[in-house]
Amino acid sequence: MEYLETDHVRPSADGESVIYLDQSLLPGMEEWKKCSEIREMYDAIKRLEVRGAPCIGIFAGYCMAVRAALLAKKEGNAAGLLSELKKEAEYLNSSRPTAVNLSYVIGLMISRAENALAGDGSISPKNLSELLMKEAERVHLEDIDMCAKIAENGLSLIEDGYGILTHCNAGPLATSRLGTALGPILLGKSRGMEFHVYADETRPLLQGARLTSYELSKAGVDVTLICDNMAASIMKQGRIQACFVGCDRVAANGDTANKIGTLGVAVMAKHFGIPFYVLGPKSSIDISCGSGADIVIEERSPEEVKLGYFSKPSAPGSVRCYNPSFDVTDHELITAIITDGGILRPPFHQSIGSLFNE
Ligand code: MRU
Repeated sequence: MEYLETDHVRPSADGESVIYLDQSLLPGMEEWKKCSEIREMYDAIKRLEVRGAPCIGIFAGYCMAVRAALLAKKEGNAAGLLSELKKEAEYLNSSRPTAVNLSYVIGLMISRAENALAGDGSISPKNLSELLMKEAERVHLEDIDMCAKIAENGLSLIEDGYGILTHCNAGPLATSRLGTALGPILLGKSRGMEFHVYADETRPLLQGARLTSYELSKAGVDVTLICDNMAASIMKQGRIQACFVGCDRVAANGDTANKIGTLGVAVMAKHFGIPFYVLGPKSSIDISCGSGADIVIEERSPEEVKLGYFSKPSAPGSVRCYNPSFDVTDHELITAIITDGGILRPPFHQSIGSLFNE
């Protein structure tokens, strides 16, 4: 399949490792890495070499399939394989807490294996691992399809010539193909539309500067990089007609966890009367979370803030530093949540409820 040759997360031809583009080195270096050991897989997620909620999910699917293929060589029966795989799944799931896609896909993979075993107790370890590889490929293909639908839905809300502000990176690198927040922009561009995108640099790990401006420039989209603290001024100047951001986990009431700084963008957008849109697949909605208060926010090392991408430390080594990686945007600040299943409007507890009851 064509996507397996081109995508930035994919299994190796022998199915015994996962190949990925190391996003932590972009845009300076395009380095491809390979991992087979569960520890390497955990580290790839933890270090943001593989990042962006849907991309982490796709990667986790292939990791589980690869681990199953390798365990199949050692385990005498499928039940033994599944028991080992469950331990590894738990470990991988602990690498990052906020994006729901990681636990969602790991859960799918384990259920698929449990169902197969329940249906055929004598299934061989090799057959079980092959079945898991098919499931990981299905998750990957499904993401491509969901992104295409999100892009169409999002494009229906914007017009040629719009100025659009985005935060962090929710483009192809964070997913599979079109991305979520960048999907409508890339789709519109492919249809001859022009947008003026302002990319927040997104301190401290600069996903906006390193990844969004890199992806959009490559696609020929008019993109201007700004520091995070410039967004209000750009909005006040009338340059922004819509804000598009991705999501890591959406609660049942519409509260949305996304990269730290997203809440600030939403507050500013409200102040200036600019629509603020969250874009993500239905699978990013976690209806087991009643509100944003139930979402676990990852806290990362202070060194990312104090050293980060500076050539010299930007703060005294001893200064106390708080580095939450995500924040929660209150649902009252969100104009609409654009999913593959349609455009959800407030009241979100109702529109989200209907989406899950379809
Ligand atoms: O820490 P990261 O880079 O994984 O954070 C990514 C984001 O916050 C994205 O906006 C989100 O995962 C959506 S990606 C389609």
